[in-house]
Amino acid sequence: MPAEQIAESVRSIQQVWSRTPRVGLILGTGLGGLAEQIETDAVIPYGEIPHFPVSTVQSHAGQLVCGTLSGLPVVAMEGRFHYYEGYSLAQVTFPVRVMKALGAELLVVTNAAGGMNPQYSLADVMIIEDHINLMPENPLRGPNDDSLGPRFPDMSAPYDRELIGLAGRLAMELGIPHQQGVFVAVPGPNLETRAEYRMLRQLGADAVGMSTVPEVLVAVHAGLKVLGLSIVTDICLPDALEPVEIEKILAVAAQGGECLSRLIPRVLAEWGKS
Ligand code: HPA
Repeated sequence: MPAEQIAESVRSIQQVWSRTPRVGLILGTGLGGLAEQIETDAVIPYGEIPHFPVSTVQSHAGQLVCGTLSGLPVVAMEGRFHYYEGYSLAQVTFPVRVMKALGAELLVVTNAAGGMNPQYSLADVMIIEDHINLMPENPLRGPNDDSLGPRFPDMSAPYDRELIGLAGRLAMELGIPHQQGVFVAVPGPNLETRAEYRMLRQLGADAVGMSTVPEVLVAVHAGLKVLGLSIVTDICLPDALEPVEIEKILAVAAQGGECLSRLIPRVLAEWGKS
């Protein structure tokens, strides 16, 4: 039973770390740098948490970092699970359930994304204002556990409007190049063809990636506030498309990751006052 599995994971984490997190963070590909800013109480490898899948991507560390950031107790996933790795979306999103059950109120989710809006530049931070789900599965499919959330969760504003505004204002103050846009989730693992980028842009998306939307669906279902931040790691203009090199994407992610390492603590400091 998922509820029992969630409770078991929570108990095992609480044996090592007894505080109640206010914030859960999911650090995307190449974006783990923020974890170093956490005043760490405990680091738990995913393999030691019952029912947590184990990360298979090399650029993902695969551990839960528990501690304090901007004066707030937080849990951060250094490394996330992707649909393309073969996990079900229930597995991909299981940690979000655990964060909620630990007591988190806010989920901050980050990712590396391809920029399709021609105004975007490499390493821009895109504050996610809305999303389009093109994953072939849904983590909420199947019998609904009403104790976890409603059968038909509302998606009129999955990304908290105040946090979108706050992140934009603080990015401006910090001089961080930023955008606000729509994120579309695809299953991967292949990158898109020119024709697919053209289609995704016409659908209304500004950036594309292989994660985040499943976690956000579960977070909204669970009643968590959400802030989503993408780093534009490659430029995906169908008429000027260059072959991507994953090393380059990771290098740009590291650059954007530094911006997130400055921005997210400031956002949390301000949010924590409210
Ligand atoms: N597609 C294209 N470019 C990307 C992606 C993606 O899913 N993720 C990061 N850069």
